[in-house]
Amino acid sequence: MEQLKRQRVFDLLKKDTTSLIGEQVNVKGWVRTKRGNKNVAFIALNDGSIIHNIQVVVDVQEFNNDELLKAVTTGACISVNGKLVESQGKGQSVEIIASGLVVYGSADPDTYPLQKKGHTLEFLREIAHLRPRTNTFGAVFRIRHALAFAIHNYFNDRGFYYLHTPIITGSDAEGAGAMFHVTTMDLNNVPKTEEGKIDYSRDFFGKETNLTVSGQLEGELGALALSNIYTFGPTFRAENSNTTRHLAEFWMIEPEMAFYDIHDNQDLSEDFLKYLISYVLENCTDDLEFLQKMYDNDLIGRLKFVTENTFERLSYTRAIEILEQSGQKFEYPVKWGVDLQSEHERYLVEKHFKKPVILTDYPREIKAFYMKVNDDGKTVRAMDVLFPKIGEIIGGSQREENYDTLISRINEMGIPEKDVWWYLETRKFGTAPHSGFGLGFERLMLFITGMGNIRDVIPFPRTPQNAEF
Ligand code: 4AD
Ligand code: MG
Repeated sequence: MEQLKRQRVFDLLKKDTTSLIGEQVNVKGWVRTKRGNKNVAFIALNDGSIIHNIQVVVDVQEFNNDELLKAVTTGACISVNGKLVESQGKGQSVEIIASGLVVYGSADPDTYPLQKKGHTLEFLREIAHLRPRTNTFGAVFRIRHALAFAIHNYFNDRGFYYLHTPIITGSDAEGAGAMFHVTTMDLNNVPKTEEGKIDYSRDFFGKETNLTVSGQLEGELGALALSNIYTFGPTFRAENSNTTRHLAEFWMIEPEMAFYDIHDNQDLSEDFLKYLISYVLENCTDDLEFLQKMYDNDLIGRLKFVTENTFERLSYTRAIEILEQSGQKFEYPVKWGVDLQSEHERYLVEKHFKKPVILTDYPREIKAFYMKVNDDGKTVRAMDVLFPKIGEIIGGSQREENYDTLISRINEMGIPEKDVWWYLETRKFGTAPHSGFGLGFERLMLFITGMGNIRDVIPFPRTPQNAEF
């Protein structure tokens, strides 16, 4: 077959192809369907560049190669040369009249798992190696890319520097969740000290190490030098929580800003979320429309609503009053001092305010050591952003910049000073008021795609008992 430059299906369907009409073009991709009769065959071809397929028309008599056409089945990968013509049928602008065809890889119809449409999302999770070839996961992963790109765009435009914080960490101070150990020790023959404890001095790093639960502490070091930084990387939590909103490996975006107080922090979080949602509304229309049609009738309306309305801001204390007066029966009863469960968060967002909510000033006992203590001594300058259908999407705070207060918080919580001496030094030398937050990337993906399970918005989910792919 003649060598021609490959055209992406996206370019053929979305760009101006006037100059290509009547010309020979090449497309490559995976067959979604083939139908027709003994005279003509219609192949719907998808190359993942766009949700839509391009139609390839084959004049069976003229093509005169039944063996080759037989191998063109759902799932097969092919390369097609042919004349680009304006489409006769509706639904597509152009199509290709095939003149040459190569089968790169066949897909046996008896065993190809995606032979038929309409598989459940649960089944597709079991074939995570093939599910990117479905319309749903193509749409989800293209949106994931667009969002990641928009995140870098947003910060770059505003003078934030992307700081790479470590994945392997020697500190366990954050207290954000159970950690995964990192070791090269032989687990069948672990070196012990004379007292019978594990001798980490003989491990790879000469100390106990874990996968990070957050880049924040290192992010703060960056902000206290570069003013505005952000991290965007994988984080790991070994909790055994099997919910639709938790992963053991998830991605987090953590901006950290010198000279920001808790109000600046809230403003940034709201502006950031609205920017990202608007970006996807503008740039991923076809994929969003598909997801709306398939899974969630209100999807696009809900996204627009969030971009057009001001988030409700109130204190934790006020939120507790509202919950207590709601007359609702919650599985976990509420009173001042308890950590909010997602049922409480969702009541506030979905039933009471009917829009995103930012809660601030939580009780110090339920929040991390680094949050700035308020003048009342009872609450800290925490902020959580709560979203419809998701609950907590962002967690953050103004940070405690006072050395003495921070030391007493650390002692209070039993965190050894030797583990965080480097963090404490930033409060000793040129400390500054500063704030930051963490956005769960997959929680945002859940909201934007309307998917119901966090396992369906990351290519290869890591959850308890599941790391096959
Ligand atoms: O509230 P978290 O634990 O906050 C932090 O880690 C801070 N260090 C952030 C900061 O101030 N820089 O986590 C932040 C966000 C949550 O709001 C949630 O969206 C997401 O990360 N998240 C998870 N997403 C998926 N699976 C999990 N197991 C998650 N745990 C938290
Ligand atoms: Mg949190």
